[in-house]
Amino acid sequence: VQSAPPSAAFPPPPLTARPVDRAAWLAAYRHVRAETERRAAPLSPEDQQIQSMADASPTKWHRAHTTWFFEQFLLREHLPGYAIHDERWHYLFNSYYVAAGPRQPRIARGLITRPDAEAVAAYRRHVDGAVETLLAQAAPGALEAVLPILEIGLYHEQQHQELILTDILHAFAQNPLGAVYDADWRFPKAAARAGAVELARAIAQVGHEGAGFSFDNEHPRHESLILPCTVDRALVTCGQWQAFMRDGGYTRPDLWLSDGWIAAQEQGWEAPGYWRQDGEGWSVMTLGGRRPVEADQPVTHISYYEADAYARWAGRDLPSEAEWEVAARDHGLDDAFGLVWQWTRSPYVAYPGYRPLPGALGEYNGKFMANQMVLRGSSVATPEGHARLPYRNFFYPHQRWQFTGLRLANQRR
Ligand code: AVJ
Ligand code: FE
Repeated sequence: VQSAPPSAAFPPPPLTARPVDRAAWLAAYRHVRAETERRAAPLSPEDQQIQSMADASPTKWHRAHTTWFFEQFLLREHLPGYAIHDERWHYLFNSYYVAAGPRQPRIARGLITRPDAEAVAAYRRHVDGAVETLLAQAAPGALEAVLPILEIGLYHEQQHQELILTDILHAFAQNPLGAVYDADWRFPKAAARAGAVELARAIAQVGHEGAGFSFDNEHPRHESLILPCTVDRALVTCGQWQAFMRDGGYTRPDLWLSDGWIAAQEQGWEAPGYWRQDGEGWSVMTLGGRRPVEADQPVTHISYYEADAYARWAGRDLPSEAEWEVAARDHGLDDAFGLVWQWTRSPYVAYPGYRPLPGALGEYNGKFMANQMVLRGSSVATPEGHARLPYRNFFYPHQRWQFTGLRLANQRR
């Protein structure tokens, strides 16, 4: 199941486009919903049930939660006479919206064997029918409120499409036989152009601009001071990472942040996630099963702590998110998108003047703005059409089950 080909159906038209092209919105909705099912299709009901750790969720839960999102935020409010599929499921599939009510503890999502996968499929069909009715029947005035929620629901579901792959990879990695998600799965080839782009001192505009979709955390667009620096064109590769390992990268506390060193000791890190020493060399668990590590592929499944230690070892820096954005926009970076998310040295905090969305959807991004780090770009698991230049992804610095990697930079010293 390689990533979907580019589609005319996605992204949907800008929210401001008039007249509203209902057919285009319908096509976008169907496209996104179908991609979720396409990613789940190789997985048996048993596969879809598993929760291999607190950070990961069952495929079945992802399929249901993305459906609940449309039911809760779109249909409940905006489709008159809509019949909630099963009111009791609200508790099961609310993820973290405190304002929307109590919910199943995250860690216990894998304990829910019923509704089963077929019942979740029926839930999806029920909600799909209702969304299609809403799109067909909403008065023009009502569409003004409907489309922004439909739009965020589509991008939300795409975020979960990425999680379906990263979470099942983590689950399959626990299987000593090395379960295979897709035997034809290949990591795209890195461009690996040498050299760096140079940024001069500037006050640069960063953040989202224009009529296309954005998440609230990309706003407001604002001025950011760029100090002179360089940002490497290429991503750090597995071969380069092995040089770090051979040089004692995982055994030298002087290279590590204190919290990182503690995490590395507790977790027994001596290589990136899913790596295993096989005789002379290393293998890595992939969506295509266990494969030899390839030196020229970008390193992935590393935590922020590891990225930071690697940069210190190399006498380099990680780029800030503003440096990354300006370098990618004004100069072009190789493999900015579609291979691995790139850790930046920027903490995930509000842009100056940021305000979350009103209501429960205000919990979407804003309440996580502490103790996480920003990643830029996108990964091999990111669905087609989802990635954008000002996109701010974020994870805790110890997490490494996503397709996370790095590129290096040099701050002027
Ligand atoms: C932006 C990837 C950190 O995984 O919680 C899914 C995406 N937000 N549902 C996450 C998300 C709401 C989010 N990340
Ligand atoms: Fe979600």
